[in-house]
Amino acid sequence: MNSLLHLSETQRAIVDTAREFCAAEVTPYAAQWDRDAHFDPTLTHKLGELGFLGMMIPEAHDGLGLDTTTYLLALEEISAADASVGVLMSVHNSLPTQMLLKYGSEAQRREFLGPLARGEKLGAFALSEPDAGSDAAAMRAQAVRDGDDWVLNGTKAWISAGGHAGVVLAMVRTDSSDARKGAKGIGAFIVTPDLPGFKVGKKENKMGLRASETVQLVFDNMRVPGDRLLGDPTQGFVYALQSLESGRLGIATQALGIARAAYDHARAYARERQQFGQAIGEFQGVQFKLADMATRINAARSLIHATAAAKDRGEAVGEYASMCKLFATETAMWVTTQAIQVFGGYGYTTDYPVEKLFRDAKVTEIYEGTSEIQRVVIGRAALKG
Ligand code: CAA
Repeated sequence: MNSLLHLSETQRAIVDTAREFCAAEVTPYAAQWDRDAHFDPTLTHKLGELGFLGMMIPEAHDGLGLDTTTYLLALEEISAADASVGVLMSVHNSLPTQMLLKYGSEAQRREFLGPLARGEKLGAFALSEPDAGSDAAAMRAQAVRDGDDWVLNGTKAWISAGGHAGVVLAMVRTDSSDARKGAKGIGAFIVTPDLPGFKVGKKENKMGLRASETVQLVFDNMRVPGDRLLGDPTQGFVYALQSLESGRLGIATQALGIARAAYDHARAYARERQQFGQAIGEFQGVQFKLADMATRINAARSLIHATAAAKDRGEAVGEYASMCKLFATETAMWVTTQAIQVFGGYGYTTDYPVEKLFRDAKVTEIYEGTSEIQRVVIGRAALKG
């Protein structure tokens, strides 16, 4: 359902590639991965071979050098097939990669972007902590300078693919003089799992997105060379929030993919399911549900693509990225709920895919900033503007 978008030849080719990849490598396995909470590490290499892990990385660093719009078109396809693969692709392309591109030194970009683009290394983003979620600046993990190195201690939480990541962009307090210096005393470090003191902690047992592994990362006297610090040691929080603008567009698109998949299943079922002597789609009550689903999905996609285009023109899109995430994720929750209703009792069982979509949709209203935090960002911008 891309009917309103006019795709270029390149974009059409990317969408077709994504669909073929999903039909062969994702859709047949998604339900089993969900049941087993299994993260398939071979996906990283497969997505890397397609260029889907370096979509916005310049060709000089082995990426595809594409724009945000084209990246999001691919992400919608992948997320419609399995939102767990979608979040892997979104976090990798939006957060660590964008932080390195925007704030990394030439040497850091040369060392890390190629392996990320080729899918040799998976990227992760470590901002939250067990006691610092929405209030991310309340983090306690601490970096202390020791000669040329930094020594990091603390626990980061809710890290997507953290146990499989080869490169983690970790935000850690660099100024201990005042814990409420908040945003001002935080650095961003390029952390790799070979560093002594890097430990993978608790793995979360989640309601949805079960094939995406979510873990804690523990830094236990982890010695990080000085050249792994990104940019200014006091600006890591600003870098992270800036990169989250890209991340939130990604999660909005992941939600869009989930909603589209639920709508497609509901539409097909409405055509085939017979009750009272006719297909249930013949009843206006069901038609109205499909109409509202299609309208909200197209509205979400239009907002996302208008925001992506503005971003690619170099415009500031912070509050629009938040609007995309707020609207698309609430759309995904609403559409998946309606899809289950169209399926009736069957929708409530694991025999049909809509209950998984419903479970997967829920987290999109929570991570990379809850719906409430998106409203804070939008509300603050409204009062400023
Ligand atoms: N771009 C650049 N700078 C920004 C910015 C942006 N989008 N947003 C804020 N800043 C700057 C501000 O200008 C400010 O700097 P100055 O003081 O120099 O002006 C600084 O960053 C701090 O900003 P705030 O004062 O607004 O900070 P705050 O403590 O009030 O927090 C918040 C604001 C919006 C609540 C923010 O903390 C937030 O977004 N919280 C949610 C955190 C979040 O999204 N976490 C998701 C983690 S990732 C994840 O989910 C895991 C995964 O793997 C999927």
